[in-house]
Amino acid sequence: MSALVEFNNVTYTYARSTKPAIEDISFSIEPGEFVALIGPSGAGKSTLCYCFNGSIPQLFNGSMSGNLNIAGCDPFEDDIPVLAQHVGLVVQNARTQLFNVTVIQEVGFGCENLGLPRPVILERVKQALDFVGLSGLEEREPTALSGGQQQRLAIACVLAMDPEILVLDEPTSELDPIGAEQVMDVIARMNQELGKTILLVTHDMEFVTKYASRVMLLNDRRLIMDGTPQEIFSKVELLAQSRIRPPQVCEVAEGLRQLGYRLDPLPVTLDDMVQSLKVLRHG
Ligand SMILES: Nc1ncnc2c1ncn2[C@@H]1O[C@H](COP(=O)(O)OP(=O)(O)O)[C@@H](O)[C@H]1O
Ligand SMILES: [Mg+2]
Repeated sequence: MSALVEFNNVTYTYARSTKPAIEDISFSIEPGEFVALIGPSGAGKSTLCYCFNGSIPQLFNGSMSGNLNIAGCDPFEDDIPVLAQHVGLVVQNARTQLFNVTVIQEVGFGCENLGLPRPVILERVKQALDFVGLSGLEEREPTALSGGQQQRLAIACVLAMDPEILVLDEPTSELDPIGAEQVMDVIARMNQELGKTILLVTHDMEFVTKYASRVMLLNDRRLIMDGTPQEIFSKVELLAQSRIRPPQVCEVAEGLRQLGYRLDPLPVTLDDMVQSLKVLRHG
């Protein structure tokens, strides 16, 4: 059985660019994983996201090599509406791209493009709005919603198409802390309750340790680390080279390690840290 997502030696160069935006990327993702994709600006994170739904190579005029399997589809060959049934991509700044007059039309738009029957569309729209906590706002204008509501609306739009995989590119970067938590709660529940496979691009390392079971680090167009949060956040020097600051808990834990305290595995959340310290104390 092959993995749900496979990238094999994928390299992509935008039209008129002299060097690739992502280079020789290989990894696979199993169903139900929650993967965080981290890395500095310009590393190639958004480019990688566009490979999931066929936007790259089909909508951008660049050059691509390698091969890909996205839920049994080939983004080189299969049409974008076919891919959209397997992968929902919430692009960076998605909320600035809402264009319908009402919330209900916005969420129904993708399903209409799939040619689904009207009663099915209405049911899916209802369920998606309910799931993201926007029930009751069906007739509101998307642009009149708060930033966090708009981001949850953008998620509902792809969720209504019922894909196995959701790719979310910096969905919380422009939100206040409460709005960001609400969006992260929706993403976590899509994984835990609906069994969706998640690829989340984020600069928020606290969210990474709280929600992700695996972290991929992209720097200077290459995938340079791929592992559990414990593995990734203990590589302090590599992270610093990628201009990534680990969660504060990890920094404290690394400091304690250097003083000779045996913290293994590295605690990455506050709860882990409290547990580790209890064990150390009682020995
Ligand atoms: N549409 C585009 N055309 C040409 N170059 C692009 C385009 N989009 C991004 N790039 C370049 O590709 C590289 C990776 O960008 P991007 O994938 O947006 O990185 P990230 O999302 O990690 O910030 C950067 O050097 C960026 O300037
Ligand atoms: Mg980006």
